[in-house]
Amino acid sequence: MREKKDIFGQRLERHYDELKWLYMELYDDEARFAELCCNLRRIWDARKAPLKELDAKREADPEWYRGNGLLGMMMYVGQFAGNLKGVAEHLDYVSSCGVNYLHLMPLMESPAGRSDGGYAVADFRKVQKELGTVEDLEDLAGRCHEQGISLCLDFVMNHTSEDHEWARRARAGEREYQDRYFFYDSWEIPMQFEKTVPQVFPTTAPGNFTWLPDVGKHVMTSFYPYQWDLNYANPVVFNEMVYNYLFLANLGIDVIRLDAVPYIWKELGTTCRNLPQVHTLVRMMRMIGEAVCPGTLLLGEVVMEPVKVAPYFGTVKKPECHMLYNVTTMATVWHTVATQDVRLLKKQLDAVYGLPQEYTFLNYLRCHDDIGWGLDYDTLAEWGMQQIPHKQFLNDFFTGKLEDSPSRGELYNNDPITRDARFCGTTASMCGVEKAGFCGDEYGMERAIRLDVMLHAFMLFQAGIPVIYSGDEVGQVNDYSYKDDPEKRMDSRYIHRGAFQWSLVKNIEKPGTVQERLFTALRRLETLRAEHEAFGTGAKAATCASGDDGVLILKRTGEKETLVGIYNFSRERKEIAWTEGGTDMLTGETLGSDGRVWLRPYDFVWGRLVSASAEDRTE
Ligand code: GLC
Repeated sequence: MREKKDIFGQRLERHYDELKWLYMELYDDEARFAELCCNLRRIWDARKAPLKELDAKREADPEWYRGNGLLGMMMYVGQFAGNLKGVAEHLDYVSSCGVNYLHLMPLMESPAGRSDGGYAVADFRKVQKELGTVEDLEDLAGRCHEQGISLCLDFVMNHTSEDHEWARRARAGEREYQDRYFFYDSWEIPMQFEKTVPQVFPTTAPGNFTWLPDVGKHVMTSFYPYQWDLNYANPVVFNEMVYNYLFLANLGIDVIRLDAVPYIWKELGTTCRNLPQVHTLVRMMRMIGEAVCPGTLLLGEVVMEPVKVAPYFGTVKKPECHMLYNVTTMATVWHTVATQDVRLLKKQLDAVYGLPQEYTFLNYLRCHDDIGWGLDYDTLAEWGMQQIPHKQFLNDFFTGKLEDSPSRGELYNNDPITRDARFCGTTASMCGVEKAGFCGDEYGMERAIRLDVMLHAFMLFQAGIPVIYSGDEVGQVNDYSYKDDPEKRMDSRYIHRGAFQWSLVKNIEKPGTVQERLFTALRRLETLRAEHEAFGTGAKAATCASGDDGVLILKRTGEKETLVGIYNFSRERKEIAWTEGGTDMLTGETLGSDGRVWLRPYDFVWGRLVSASAEDRTE
């Protein structure tokens, strides 16, 4: 008689055949597969009871993260509250922002001065000393759970720091560890790679390889020279990295952000991006997660054009990531601010809204990285906007070079040859808060706040998880002090990674301050979002014709109601014909009582139309 399997055994069994099939296809190594399975059980055994309970709860409600109930925030532990204990002490502030999904930027051990903001990990099991200990992290996760907050952490899986033990041993000449990276004796193979592999940091770290004079070898470094790419063709790397991922899950991390995931498989003659094997690896991680820690989600960081992004969801039967960033929508929003032309955004949203509703996106306006202008240039070309001059226009606009621009910020990886550059700055600075504050321009400030709120309203209107970049809720502007720090000076992304200004939080209570106006407006919108089921993933979203290229109209139809969002992206007052009635969700007034809706520059309206079911019945 077959022994009755425990819950882990049952979960693993569900995926066993597929997992083994994929593993063998990639590695053809029975022994390593057996070792993996053995360790998965060991890790599951060690998983603490409260997490196992959470697993069961979430497994019973697999849609738990897909409604309108989550509001995210991302932050640097050190910049927000000094260290992990500090974050634990400030969880009340996090909750007062309505936030119940907290993404902490990389905090594992990473060498100062060669850390890429924590994305060069020297030890996947140790927290950076200044931020605390693994115990502090586990304790914070527990406290977050008590307050109903899910915690997200990066899993930097494409590379390690050159200070990681594997890298040090590889450098010391141990062949076994060199095989965990891409080491080459001569320039021959690296040169072949360089023919087809684009560069991530063309100006700060040209090339995809670094020469190690002490070893007399080249090592692959797609990002900074101190970040050595891991070789996932080696099953030891996969197994060990899986254990590192599960280590985070067992600390109580709810969402694992797979950093730079499209890059994890390398093959000569290709771009080394989004290769089929990447999907095999992610699919295996998903199945492993479902066996060991089904309460944990995978969030893929896929900063690619839309056709490359969606495949990371996998298929309904064989899912990969639970969530992905809505990166093109984010970039297109800023394009729309600069051009005052909503056509591309409308087209982009039509594409997003056409995707299966199972797909869950993370929506954001700003994050810790630069904004790369990854737009639909084929469409823009049809409308007379060519890629290079258009990028130049966007960068000129957002750096504030153009006369009618309220924005402030800096370029990132400005390539003088291709004239390609990305952009850095906080939401508030990009919206004009910095400039208006500096000039004491009350009218400018009013307009800047209106734009800032409107963009958040747009973001909150989308299904998925809206994520606020810490500081945005109080209109924090650019921080130029990174220029005085020799370790940060070369990386303008630090302009929007400044220390959180607690002095601004005090102003939330003072009526009329920028912070009070912004914070109150956002809280109001976030509360409405949480109250109306039509903001959830289940609702049907659509764009509508507005008759004006400066104005975007969106609708969301849920079971009980239809919501409408009207956004004026132009710097002019607009009048939109409106005969559908409905109620303004913010003022309670009837929408378009005189047959039109008026919008000030950068203004928006959220309205509630007749109940969808009532509408259905009359059809
Ligand atoms: C991701 C991170 C970025 C980092 C890179 C390399 O893209 O968001 O900040 O530089 O990975 O790890």
